[in-house]
Amino acid sequence: MTDKNSLFYGIHYIYADKKAFQGYKAGNRFPEGSTIVVDYFNIKPGSDADGPKNMVVMMRKDKRQKETAGWLFAGYGADGKPSGLDPVSTCFGCHQKDAAQRDHVISTIKDFKL
Ligand code: HEC
Repeated sequence: MTDKNSLFYGIHYIYADKKAFQGYKAGNRFPEGSTIVVDYFNIKPGSDADGPKNMVVMMRKDKRQKETAGWLFAGYGADGKPSGLDPVSTCFGCHQKDAAQRDHVISTIKDFKL
């Protein structure tokens, strides 16, 4: 993503645990406990190399999270502290808009290098 106005400007790496990976393989139907983590890095000016890490986001399937369709959303800054973004209006709002038909997970199996 190269749009500097985007919250997600930079390079990102997606990690899925075993359950989440099964969910991706099933066409985005995720079992309870699935965990997906994304590391975002800034792009170093004038190069393709990874710049400093700027944030980490996580989604874990947790059926107690009724407001957010059974997903726990958490975001952290580069220092590991919670980023303070509101999980319902910020995280869920955007994921709902983009991926309501895909269990609120925007990426798909095609985004993974197998
Ligand atoms: C502006 C819209 C938007 C907001 C706000 C947003 N996301 Fe996302 N998120 C995306 C998009 C688009 C992707 C697709 C992968 C990529 O481009 O990195 C994504 C991917 C993810 C993924 C990887 C799984 C997937 O759905 O593809 C996780 C986990 C995630 N976001 C968590 C969060 C958390 C936690 C927050 C709140 C702190 C958040 N997101 C806020 C748009 C958003």
